[in-house]
Amino acid sequence: MTEALDIADRLSAAPSKGLRGHIAVPGDKSISHRALILGGMAEGETRIEGLLEGRDVLHTAAAVRALGAKVTRLGDGLWTVQGAEWRSPEAPIDCGNSGTGARLLLGAAAGYEIHATFTGDESLRSRPMRRVLDPLRQMGARTDDGDRLPVTIRGGGLHGISYRSPTASAQVKSAVLLAGLHAQGEVEVIEPARSRDHTERMLRAFGCDVEVDGKAVRLGVGRRLRATDIMVPGDPSSAAFLLVAALIVPNSEVTVYGVLTNKLRTGLFETLLEMGADLSFANRRIVGGEEVADITARSSALTAVEVDPGRVPSMIDEFPILAVAAACASGQTLMHGLAELRVKESDRLAAILIGLKSCGVSAAIIGDTLMVDGCDGPCAGGGAVTTHGDHRIAMSFLTLGLAARGPVAVDEAEMIGTSFPGFAGLMASLGARIGEGR
Ligand code: S3P
Repeated sequence: MTEALDIADRLSAAPSKGLRGHIAVPGDKSISHRALILGGMAEGETRIEGLLEGRDVLHTAAAVRALGAKVTRLGDGLWTVQGAEWRSPEAPIDCGNSGTGARLLLGAAAGYEIHATFTGDESLRSRPMRRVLDPLRQMGARTDDGDRLPVTIRGGGLHGISYRSPTASAQVKSAVLLAGLHAQGEVEVIEPARSRDHTERMLRAFGCDVEVDGKAVRLGVGRRLRATDIMVPGDPSSAAFLLVAALIVPNSEVTVYGVLTNKLRTGLFETLLEMGADLSFANRRIVGGEEVADITARSSALTAVEVDPGRVPSMIDEFPILAVAAACASGQTLMHGLAELRVKESDRLAAILIGLKSCGVSAAIIGDTLMVDGCDGPCAGGGAVTTHGDHRIAMSFLTLGLAARGPVAVDEAEMIGTSFPGFAGLMASLGARIGEGR
């Protein structure tokens, strides 16, 4: 029954009585992409445990294979990657819905004497790529002009760069660092604010010299990658839906085990704590060079908060679900500095606003600020939300439906499998009234 939910085209969520359980979520998406790509570039065989088997990551696995590495699935989440000198693929590489896959692979491929064409689904083909192509061209890669996929890149013969990135984007930073592994000379990326640092951490785990100096990251002279074992912790961006669901549905208590708590990813949890959320962190430990904890959320009366732009990079994917928490809180929540949300899997800023309004929540966008007037408890619900093919919009509004007065339906649900296969079944196992269609 729960398996059927996870392949349903349409889902709806109805007011629920209390969510309870102890669960784990699938592996972190960012770390999963990087493990496959670095494993594919390294000497020797990398073993990955807990790989996210969502469609985005499976596209990256297929890409790394097409570029010459041997990628093998041994069992649930257990994969090996035998690295190789990359070669030109026979056909265009389809990155599906994944901006991370496309941008990191473009960077990695730029370092090799190969040519490769990258493309993706309709959403990915509408997303900006110049942000990675510009620095790669400055390093000597030859690519098509333009800002959109498909893009053909001719790599090799790269030189170093000191790149001042205009946006705090881990995808841009990572593309330059991965290209830099095969560049001559100094390679440095300076960000306006620190973005997630999984590439830096994992490069070190693969034996590469990486220096982090405030907002600057530099590759050292030792740039050879040697295979290693990677354990992928649970994805905090997926855990977010279950934890917020427990906060906003009365009589709930949910524990999610083994969630990544890297400080550059925990902006949502910090914000929820400021809103008065009953969130607790236990068994803090290090797994595969990353901080992990078991997180428990209990039903809470939330109050509005103001999110500073400085916090945005550490919760860039969590604004849809924060908006849902804000809709149930008392008072007006302000979230500043959200320009980047316009170029995610959908125009997320617009999608959040329209979704909230269709559920009876008053909200507005002024410049790059999102304002949400909290309902101080359940909002009306009853909406049919347009997701624009965006997994996080779908999961966020289904979460809202569990705590609204009327059910909330989403027009598409199958793309949830890009990042969180099993989402609906897992929610249902906690007691959420989530079902097919409407
Ligand atoms: C990611 C970085 C973020 C995030 C994306 C994953 C990554 O994008 O939105 O889901 O793995 O590097 P930006 O780097 O473009 O902000």
